[in-house]
Amino acid sequence: MDLKLHDKIALVTGSGSPIGYGRAIAVRLAEEGCDVVCADLNLDWAEETAAAVRGIGREAMAVKANVSDRAEVDAMVQSAVERFGRIDILVNNAGVSSRDKPFMEKTKADWDLDIGVNLYGQMNVAQAVIPHMAEQRYGRIINTSGGQGIPTISTYGAAKAGVEAFTRSLALEVAPLGIIVNGISPGLGETGLIVTATQEHKDGFRRMSALKRLCTPQDVAPAVAFLASDVCSYMVGQWLRLGTF
Ligand SMILES: NC(=O)c1ccc[n+]([C@@H]2O[C@H](COP(=O)([O-])OP(=O)(O)OC[C@H]3O[C@@H](n4cnc5c(N)ncnc54)[C@H](O)[C@@H]3O)[C@@H](O)[C@H]2O)c1
Repeated sequence: MDLKLHDKIALVTGSGSPIGYGRAIAVRLAEEGCDVVCADLNLDWAEETAAAVRGIGREAMAVKANVSDRAEVDAMVQSAVERFGRIDILVNNAGVSSRDKPFMEKTKADWDLDIGVNLYGQMNVAQAVIPHMAEQRYGRIINTSGGQGIPTISTYGAAKAGVEAFTRSLALEVAPLGIIVNGISPGLGETGLIVTATQEHKDGFRRMSALKRLCTPQDVAPAVAFLASDVCSYMVGQWLRLGTF
């Protein structure tokens, strides 16, 4: 299926992690014909992803930006627009999880990190990008949620539930501007986020999955490419939940 993504400009946050969903999403969008702004907290990783995009024959730029820092986000979006002239697609993928521990052991620093990056981060980047999309009356935004109701990741789950709630409102607010907002809830996978989880936890995640295996970046990237595309033309404020999450 032609996703009609040729020559679109995509910004993918958190696309540095070598084993993460974001890098696979950036590469898949490039394979579909996008030029990609590869953003991450870790510039070396972002440069690697940009190199992979260029290897496919598309343009790329790497940017270091902390999504929870509004000034850095504004600078990231400004430099992307200066380089490519516009942003058509935002994949709000950057995410983090404070250490697995029971709720009663979570500190204020833990929930500031979980909510600051996972919830405020996605709101920050959306607010910075939307004026550019509104001006061209075209845009696609894909927000990322994740595991809710799982023991030991209560504050992460709270942030991701917040993402789903703000996404529904945002989707309705900006649809009349030509901006289509939807969400992806990837399955539990052995990315940087849970690579250090105990074997017991990982076995539990496998059992929770409908397919009895962990999710991979290759499971996530095509679903995001669909949500980023013009083929996804009449779906607004919805979630693709992979592996039952
Ligand atoms: N792995 C899972 O089981 C799972 C399940 C559901 C949802 N998710 C979500 O998928 C998304 C991608 O995560 P992943 O699983 O690939 O993990 P990952 O750790 O491999 O990748 C996350 C990336 O985000 C970057 N990042 C972290 N904090 C940042 C910040 N403040 N500013 C900018 N970049 C930052 C990291 O440097 C890293 O490159 C996240 O939103 C995560 O919550 C993951």
